[in-house]
Amino acid sequence: MSKIYALIPAAGSGSRVRAAVPKQYLRIGGLPLLHFALRPLVRHPAIEQVFVVLAQGDTHYKQFDWSEFGARLEPLYCGGATRAASVFNGLLAARDMIAGSDWVVVHDAARPCLSSEALERLLVEAGSDEAGGLLAVPVSDTLKRAGRDLRVAGTEPREHLWLAQTPQMFRYRLLIEALRKADPEVVTDEACAIEGLGFKPRLVMGETRNLKVTFSEDLRVAERILQGRDGVVAPARESRTTARRRKRVPLRPAQPRRGGPGRR
Ligand code: C5P
Repeated sequence: MSKIYALIPAAGSGSRVRAAVPKQYLRIGGLPLLHFALRPLVRHPAIEQVFVVLAQGDTHYKQFDWSEFGARLEPLYCGGATRAASVFNGLLAARDMIAGSDWVVVHDAARPCLSSEALERLLVEAGSDEAGGLLAVPVSDTLKRAGRDLRVAGTEPREHLWLAQTPQMFRYRLLIEALRKADPEVVTDEACAIEGLGFKPRLVMGETRNLKVTFSEDLRVAERILQGRDGVVAPARESRTTARRRKRVPLRPAQPRRGGPGRR
């Protein structure tokens, strides 16, 4: 009987959120995003062990109390230069504990709102498919291709397009082979590496609220989702109206982002 393990790459620097700490350590209600990303995996009874891959010089992890997760959580200080390299290094570091036919569930440290229902769906549907699978959601907006001048260069058909999320679930042997052969600069998720071997991972319905915190406004959205679900108490924040009254500055609509980097 194959076992299930989880691996969280958490070795990114999070430069896109422009925060002083890597984004997996940004806090909601006093707890780091990494805590919320780990929680559904550590609590799932079918998952044997959760490995978290940290940057080699990570000084943040030990500042938090992880004792609630006990021995089911194991930090590995072997992060790489890219996400794919971090996952690969983590898989190598855990090789004595995981059999080739065991499943590995890989989840972003920056996705704090994974529900237990979506996780369950993945374990059931991807776990019954030899190619494995991933959570994803169908594209619902109209897609525009941008020209260099930030004008529309074309409209792309959205039929059959899905947005990849995590967790993604694959057999250990297949995943490590796929990542060994993949170009880590090109591969931004595990499924892409598996596709490179000629497999067709299964798409399992995810949730739009399983967002990846990439820009600072995502943190506020995640905070609201977690408040509604778990009653996470966030520190009180001054509203824009209050700030305007205090500073006596006019309230202007938020400026649209120009030329920001795209999401995966
Ligand atoms: O930067 P991005 O949002 O794509 O990162 C996705 C996940 O990959 C995050 O959990 C991040 O910490 C992790 N990562 C990593 N090692 C890197 C880059 C990103 O573990 N070198």
